[in-house]
Amino acid sequence: MRGEVLIEVSASAVNRADLLQRKGFYDPPPGASPYPGLECSGVVVEAGPDVLGFEPGDHVCALLAGGGYAERVAVPWQQVLPVPKGLSDVESGALPEVACTVWSNVFMTARLRKGETLLVHGGASGIGTMAIQLAKAFGSRVIATVGSPEKVAGCMELGADEVVNYRTEDFAETARADVILDIIGGPYLERNLTALNPGGRLVVIGLQGGTQGRLDLGQLLAKRASVHGTTLRARPVDEKGVIVRGVKDNVWPLIEAGAVRPVVQARVPMAEAAEAHRLLEDGRHIGKILLVR
Ligand SMILES: NC(=O)c1ccc[n+]([C@@H]2O[C@H](COP(=O)([O-])OP(=O)(O)OC[C@H]3O[C@@H](n4cnc5c(N)ncnc54)[C@H](OP(=O)(O)O)[C@@H]3O)[C@@H](O)[C@H]2O)c1
Repeated sequence: MRGEVLIEVSASAVNRADLLQRKGFYDPPPGASPYPGLECSGVVVEAGPDVLGFEPGDHVCALLAGGGYAERVAVPWQQVLPVPKGLSDVESGALPEVACTVWSNVFMTARLRKGETLLVHGGASGIGTMAIQLAKAFGSRVIATVGSPEKVAGCMELGADEVVNYRTEDFAETARADVILDIIGGPYLERNLTALNPGGRLVVIGLQGGTQGRLDLGQLLAKRASVHGTTLRARPVDEKGVIVRGVKDNVWPLIEAGAVRPVVQARVPMAEAAEAHRLLEDGRHIGKILLVR
């Protein structure tokens, strides 16, 4: 309990990683809860020794290494955020994983700048809906890829400037970007490099299509481009703390001003988590699926 806060959980959310963990393909990092749930929101019921900035009664949300599908969860204080003003506890349960993933990858690692173009694959995913909104709020142009006309409309409504339906068009023929946030991996590697502008940065955070791809190093050098790969869950607490502070300082004000919002497709009772997994696997959602107590 030293350095940790104990949260009475109001909501958690389903992430793609939870599906992989359930199937035995994504073990929790050492020391993490064996139960799924990479984020939660709720009320602090206890603050252990050495906790800074939180006390019982605080309304919070938190980035977890696991264990969010629960009544209570203990988490290092560095991974905890106040519920943004204007949002309910439950709504804020949809934020920590997507806000931290997008902030750390698009802004800290790839350093997307105002006026540059972001290409985000899976624009209607939980991650994609946050990436579109944040990049627009910071003054970038956004191109998204999706797999259905409904998702094209959903991404346009969130502010995307251009949306490519990958089932009918090849994004590499038209899209050009300074930063690409990729969740597909191997099968998109070659085309992602084609789509990168000179000086571009590709960040791979998901491998939904597989781990193996072809990388033309000649093209990489000629474009002075870079390829990054990251995961959030296994990072040490201190690194997560830096990301969470960046989110609090840079993303929370945009949420509190109404420029960025959690996109929630459905709220499912936590006792019916299996149904929430089915909804995510079905893949028709736009944004997040919340688990509420
Ligand atoms: N590395 C990290 O730290 C980290 C952290 C969080 C999430 N992630 C990864 O980020 C991804 C999104 O996570 P999530 O929880 O937001 O998942 P999600 O909501 O289930 O989204 C998955 C998305 O993938 C899209 N998709 C499938 N095939 C595609 C293709 N060929 N091209 C473009 N999009 C395609 C689906 O949309 P369509 O219907 O449009 O195909 C769906 O919107 C996952 O791969 C997850 O593992 C990584």
